[in-house]
Amino acid sequence: MKSLDQGNKVIDESKQGEATVLNTNVGDKKVYIESYGCQMNFSDSEIVASILQEDGYATTRNIEEADLVFLNTCSIREKAEDTVRKRLKSFTKLKRNNKKLKVGVLGCMAERLKSKLLEEEKLVDLIVGPDAYRDLPTLLEEIDGGEKAVNVLLSMEETYADISPVRYGSNGVTAFVTIMRGCDNMCTFCVVPFTRGRERSRDAESILEEVRQLSEQGYKEVTVLGQNVDSYLWYGGGPKKHFKNLSEIEKASSINFAQLLKKVAQVNPEVRVRFFTSNPQDMTDEVLEVMASEENICNFIHLPFQSGSDRILDLMNRGYTVEKYKERIDKIKEILPDCAISHDIISGFCSETEEDHQATLDLMDYVTFDYGYMFNYSERPNTYAAKKLTDDVPEDVKKRRLAEIIQRQREHSFIRNKTYVGNTYKVLIETISKKSDEEYLGRNSQNAAIIFPKEDAKLGDYVNVLVEDCNSATLRGKIVS
Ligand code: 5AD
Ligand code: SF4
Repeated sequence: MKSLDQGNKVIDESKQGEATVLNTNVGDKKVYIESYGCQMNFSDSEIVASILQEDGYATTRNIEEADLVFLNTCSIREKAEDTVRKRLKSFTKLKRNNKKLKVGVLGCMAERLKSKLLEEEKLVDLIVGPDAYRDLPTLLEEIDGGEKAVNVLLSMEETYADISPVRYGSNGVTAFVTIMRGCDNMCTFCVVPFTRGRERSRDAESILEEVRQLSEQGYKEVTVLGQNVDSYLWYGGGPKKHFKNLSEIEKASSINFAQLLKKVAQVNPEVRVRFFTSNPQDMTDEVLEVMASEENICNFIHLPFQSGSDRILDLMNRGYTVEKYKERIDKIKEILPDCAISHDIISGFCSETEEDHQATLDLMDYVTFDYGYMFNYSERPNTYAAKKLTDDVPEDVKKRRLAEIIQRQREHSFIRNKTYVGNTYKVLIETISKKSDEEYLGRNSQNAAIIFPKEDAKLGDYVNVLVEDCNSATLRGKIVS
């Protein structure tokens, strides 16, 4: 199924934003779950599946046989919410045919709209925010009696550290591991700090244990997830503190992101490690050095920049300037010359001029990103930008600017892809190609997707692939010994 709102990505091979359906088999009641939006939501749905499994629910891919239908939703742009509402409407007939069917909305839209969503979408029975999934068994009992139920309490501590995710729909090769939740950055356009709450880091030992288990189960790649992984800091739990405010005992036992990344990488050198998302204002040289020192940490960094104009970055409260962003890019290229870099850009933010827009294109030219996610600004209720700034760039101007940004990225992706042609890469085989059963899709360390004939290789194998051809979206090659 296609994503709700994955923006405009050049190279359509990302793991971000695909809507996926759960499928495991425990218990006699059945739940059908669809997830939308970022990887975090997908990872959360695996936690929800685990909590429901304990409560006697098996997951199903067949919505017709479900007792419970959950949508794990995204609020980041208006379009994402519109699609969820459309999807909810499509359940009307299903509910008419099965009077016992319950429909739940989870995730960011649940948190943003709270019980208001029950008034607006009559067929919804249950609203559960991202920090309240442990309460699901109790809430399900409540709705069993025909009541509606809501729990959207946010937490300063919840990380679901002890819950072992059910890896539904997994290819058995790659897995997500959440290392922190929430975000404290307060970018003025962003709804996430309101829907996912305050930033908190997960117990480092529980993260390492999860990675060890994945390794034992034969997984070959883990992606550690957080809204802002660079500010990961574990010092024994409790509300977030800055390193300088830790007690001496906390300091002695604390683990920052670079240290965590190294420990994750050292679990098994045969298991690749990726991470997502970095923040220009927090990304340290220490992280880059760990990447350089550990062979199995992939040479790929997702470093959103949003805008190439200092004035707009300031209005967005991004906490860095173009100068600082370029300095980070230069450092990446110095320490990790083979590193691929991707971006997020918001086009048409409040008061953006043609000059600001040109500055965004100029920054793209400076970096030559491998790929990126590009969005038009979408005003989100209750954010600083919605309250204090004016969404004044006309729709047609936004559209035209975005088209220019996408076109520039296409050119850059083609340039980057051409540098791979003629070279051989260690590629992890992830899936069978969507276009042909005779071909695999795998990725090199730089996260570039490469299509090649199967030969006698298996899913989850590492193979050496010679890249022979490319366009701006795809690389093609063949296995070589
Ligand atoms: N409008 C458009 N794009 C947004 N993003 C976040 N909030 C908005 C918004 N209100 C984009 C940013 C962020 C990515 C996950 O989504 O580029 O990095
Ligand atoms: Fe939103 Fe900014 Fe946090 Fe990213 S870093 S989730 S854009 S507030």
